[in-house]
Amino acid sequence: MELTINGKVHQVDLDEDTPLLWALRDELKMTGTKFGCGAGLCGACTIHINGNPARACLTPISVAKGAQITTIEGLSEQGDHPLQKAWVKHNVPQCGYCQSGQLMTAAAFIAANPKPSEKEIDNAMSGNLCRCGTYPRIKAAIQDVVQFHEGGNSND
Ligand code: FES
Ligand code: FES
Repeated sequence: MELTINGKVHQVDLDEDTPLLWALRDELKMTGTKFGCGAGLCGACTIHINGNPARACLTPISVAKGAQITTIEGLSEQGDHPLQKAWVKHNVPQCGYCQSGQLMTAAAFIAANPKPSEKEIDNAMSGNLCRCGTYPRIKAAIQDVVQFHEGGNSND
């Protein structure tokens, strides 16, 4: 099966119901996407499928076939996505394990909602767990990047 990941076509020889996470990590050695719970509960495995955040642990490769898949390795050319810069500025990671998933969720969110309210940020990020409790720094970094408007989207 062909999978298009970060703009490049990869061949994988796996059953169609294989989780995308295994194809990425074990077959293609793209280990930036992490295995946390394996059950859709933690967000560590978040990638983008056609720009939308998805849990790679719950996505069979048959679903990802023909789609544009983006992983943390492809979020930016040089690790210079505005969120990645803000992550560095705010010294967000502690152990780092959850952070690629956090970044991928945040990146899809601000692409869809460039002027979120604080509550919208909280809601968008609520499915990504961090056992190190880096939540305040994650939020500060996101707020740095977006035009932060309390009260949500406005028409300006
Ligand atoms: S590993 Fe996929 S949601 Fe936890
Ligand atoms: S930085 Fe350690 S789990 Fe989030």
